[in-house]
Amino acid sequence: KEDPRIAGISSSIRVIPDFPKPGIMFQDITTLLLDPKAFKDTIDLFVERYKDKKISVVAGIEARGFIFGPPIALAIGAKFVPMRKPGKLPGKVISEEYSLEYGTDKIEMHVGAVQDGERALVVDDLIATGGTLCAAIRLLERVGVTVVECACVIELEELKGRVKLGDKPLFVLISST
Ligand code: PRP
Repeated sequence: KEDPRIAGISSSIRVIPDFPKPGIMFQDITTLLLDPKAFKDTIDLFVERYKDKKISVVAGIEARGFIFGPPIALAIGAKFVPMRKPGKLPGKVISEEYSLEYGTDKIEMHVGAVQDGERALVVDDLIATGGTLCAAIRLLERVGVTVVECACVIELEELKGRVKLGDKPLFVLISST
């Protein structure tokens, strides 16, 4: 029942223990990018799911949402909007804070990049606690955009990010425990 392409994608992702801190098993998607078949299969799986969903905006989260988001946007005929770390976007921005283990972080989006009533897909490489995706959803909803779904390559199931998203749909290719 699982798509046969998933196994190849999964095996192309390298896991690096204790990065960036002891105890973290880092899911390194740079090795997926080195494998053109796995990279293309990843994009194709998302495109097949979203091509007929009337999505006008793909919002990609810095940094690795900038790798997967644009090819999906081009293939489904949507615009790409970067959701960036604070202080990076040159124009007028709106921002949303979210909490980390220690302290807070923020993401920003250009004012005017999206219009009231648009339909968005939010893309990132990975969902951990879900804090980043929740902030991205709040940002888009504040300006009247409907977030149709969030899409990630990898979900770290134990961190329960899916629960934090509530009734907002999340689609992932790989669930890792
Ligand atoms: C990682 C990942 C997601 C976020 C998920 O980014 O790429 O964007 O963390 O975590 P959360 O679900 O707990 O919010 P990271 O913080 O490593 O930033 P970077 O992509 O700029 O390196």
